[in-house]
This record gives sequence, structure tokens and C-alpha cells, in this order.
Amino acid sequence: MPDLHGLIDLSQPSDLPRQRLLYEQLRAAILGGRLLAGAPLPSSRALAQALGVARNTVIYAYEQLGAEGYVCSSRLGTVVAALGPVRAADQGQAPSANPGLGLSKRVAAYGRFRTPHEDALPFMPGIPALDQFPWATWRRLCEQAAREHEVLDLSYRPAAGEPELRQAIATYVRASRGVVCGADQVIVTDGTQHSLGLCAQMLADVGDLAWIEHPGYGGARVAFEQGGLNVRPVPVDAEGLSPSDEDWAQHPPRLIYTTPSHQYPLGSVLSLPRRLALIERARAAGAWIMEDDYDSEFRHEGPPLAAMQGLVEEAPVVYLGTFSKSMFPALRLGFIVLPQAVAHQGQGVVADLARRGQVAQQRALAAFIHEGHFTTHLRHMRRLYALRQQALREALAAHWPWPHHTRGGQAGMHLVLPLPEHLSDAALATAAMKVGLSPRPLSAYGTGGAAMGSGLVMGYANTPEADMDRHIQTLAQAAAAL
Ligand SMILES: Cc1ncc(COP(=O)(O)O)c(C=O)c1O
Repeated sequence: MPDLHGLIDLSQPSDLPRQRLLYEQLRAAILGGRLLAGAPLPSSRALAQALGVARNTVIYAYEQLGAEGYVCSSRLGTVVAALGPVRAADQGQAPSANPGLGLSKRVAAYGRFRTPHEDALPFMPGIPALDQFPWATWRRLCEQAAREHEVLDLSYRPAAGEPELRQAIATYVRASRGVVCGADQVIVTDGTQHSLGLCAQMLADVGDLAWIEHPGYGGARVAFEQGGLNVRPVPVDAEGLSPSDEDWAQHPPRLIYTTPSHQYPLGSVLSLPRRLALIERARAAGAWIMEDDYDSEFRHEGPPLAAMQGLVEEAPVVYLGTFSKSMFPALRLGFIVLPQAVAHQGQGVVADLARRGQVAQQRALAAFIHEGHFTTHLRHMRRLYALRQQALREALAAHWPWPHHTRGGQAGMHLVLPLPEHLSDAALATAAMKVGLSPRPLSAYGTGGAAMGSGLVMGYANTPEADMDRHIQTLAQAAAAL
């Protein structure tokens, strides 16, 4: 009979009931090789007596171990079962103690520059004015949607999204962005990052080439790489994406990712001749254009150009929208508008690629749009962001010690501040983080193309006008100290 003394200690403080603690300690002793196969365990009565616990406590532990195959009955009573080789990792040690096992090589380059809570700090690009969101209305619509749930709403829901939200989105993008579509072309997603991944899977094959903008949105590179595509950075100039004849001839793409309304991050608007040329050449090359219209709701100068999707009949354009900027990022709702030619088939495919949840939030959002709260909110935010952008420009003019000429600003929620050559944007962004500010270095948007100048991408939407002077002074001090 093995000596269980030293293997079992029920006196240690634990949230677990004693029967569970006993089971876990015996299991750990078996997996750790301290109780060997064939070793008989004491009878339940003897062990209960030795430990000073009720016999039922031991019976529970033995029965549980028996049910899971750690012990079995023999003519000697309860004995340890033969389990084959057991490994240290099975004893609850951290997986890092297991040499050779780690994350995949293809994600090795990701996540290194993320800092916890950076999103909540002033100047973080892409964060809307969260304190101005009409929570009371939103909460009421969410509660109403949850109250109206029926039993079937708890089952698997349409993978392309709730019909009323798809309809509301189609009506909205038709009216506001000139997107030519019906609700049957709309697929609701968890946001643009999700949409990009889905499109990579649905519209391209492993090994196909995807063009991305340089500088550009890193999320596109990640989504395409993870979809098994090869990625080619294409430069951006003052008129937006600018592929050369050589790009078309030598590196014809299957997907072309672009932000035509407001290039991210430089802020240029893809000119009309460029749009028409891109559509024609994409059509000739058999390529899909992925139009990421992430912040076009906030146009500050001149009338907005309509979406590329609706510019030409049957353009090979997939339109991507997100509610991360127009509502709030944590909502995680966005959408794809598929071209009519692939809409029906695409809907079926999506059912195998993704499952849709958040029924109540989808319905609340449909009501938010349908009842007019969405357009009212956008109108308020457009006005507010124009004021905040102006306040940022004025604060820079008053307190930024170097001559500068900001880029962007016709639309959206950020400006690019070019830095003098001696200032490293990465070093300044790191220093800024230490004083509670989160502009992003322009160099972080490099997608592998030619070197870019140093600069800061400065979100202004989530920074109140009254704080702008103070924050720019702080940033200038951080820069001067570098
Ligand atoms: C260019 C661009 N597209 C899309 C998004 C939004 O992505 P999501 O809908 O996944 O939040 C962002 C967010 O920062 C962005 O910068």
C-alpha cells in the first residue's frame, strides 16, 4: 500500500470542497508519477480515517478518478490504472515549460508594439468621441431588442446578419454613399478586420497577390497574410493609390485594398480619374477592389465623392463599412457589400466561414438607424470633429516649436503631423505614451514599401477642444527632451 502521507494535504486553504481537493491531489500524484500504475489505494474507510474526513468524501474522489480512468478496481481493491507515459505539462505547469511548443511562426511579428490601454489616451487615431455617444437612447434600444427576443432568436441566426439590419445598412449606404445595392448583398460582420479576413477567403486563393497601400492600414496586411495571400505594398501620393504600369504588368493582383475616401493614414482622396482608371484596370486584370470606407461619414471640406462601388455599373468593387467610428469600436459590427454577381453564392459561403451572434445588438442598431438616431449622431459628430480638428491646428500653431504643414483633414478623425528629420517618430510616440498621450508614429504604417518621412498620426476626435493646448504643450516638451 503506497504511503499517501505527503501526497495529500487537505488542510491547505482552498475554494474547492474537500472531496474535489482530494480528487485533484490524487490525480496530480498519478499524473506526476508519484503513484505508479498498479499501486493499490487505501480503502475508502481507511483513507477517510487517516485524513479525518467523512468516508463519502473519499468515495466521491475514488468514483471520479474511476470515471475518468485514473484508477480501476481489481482483486486488491482500487488500484492506479496504467496510463502510459505522462508528461510534466499534464501536471498543470505553464505551457511555456514545454520546449518546442509556442505560437505559430506566421504570427511571430504581430502584437509586439501594442501597449495596454493605449486606445484610451488622447491623440490615439480612430477613436470617436466616446463621451458624446447617446448612451441613453442606445441602452433603451438594446433593452427593447432584448425584451422582444423570441425562443427562436436563441438558435443559430442567419450568418449574413439579421434581416432588419441588412436592410437598414443597404438603405443607409445607398442614400449617403451612393452604393448601389440591395439588402441581399449586405453581409454583417464583426467589423472591418473581420470583413477583410472573410474577403481574403471568399475572393482569393492561397498564394494570390493582394495589393495594399503604402503607407497604409496594417490590419489589411495581417488579414491577407493570414488568408494565405502574398502582399505587395503600392505607393500612395497626393491623389491616393498610385500603382505603376510595372505593378500592373509584372505583379497583377487578385485583390486591391484601398481607402479612397480618405487614405489611411495620409488623408488623400482618390481622384475621380484614378478611381475610373483603377476600376477599368482591375476589371481587365480580373481583380477585386476592396473599398474600405472606414470614416467617410466625417467629411469636413467640400462635398464627399460617392463610393467607388456605385461609380460604374457592375464595378468589381467590394464595399466595406464599419460602425467602429460612427458608433463605437467595442460594438464590433461592420459589413461587406458584395457585388450582385457573387452575393447569393457569397451568403451561402459565409454560413460555413462564420457564425453570427449579437442578435439584440444587431436589432438595436437597425432601430437606431431606422429611427434616425444614427444620422442625428453623425451630424453632431461631424460638427464636433471639425471643431476638434480646428482646435488641434490652433494648438499646434501656438505651441509646436517646429515649422510644420499638417497633412489630411478634409475628412475623418486624424491629422498627420510631419516631424523634423532629427526627431524619430517612434521615439516620440514612446515618450508621449509615458506622459499619457497616444499619437501613433507614421513609421508604424509602413507596409514594406519605400522609406517614409518621420511623422505623427494624431487622432483628435476623442480629445476635447479645451484640452488640446495642454496636450500639445506636453507633447512639445516630450519632443524637446528627446
Ligand atoms: C483604415 C481602417 N479601416 C478599418 C478600421 C476599423 O476596423 P474595425 O471595423 O475592425 O474596428 C480601422 C480602424 O482603425 C482603420 O483604420
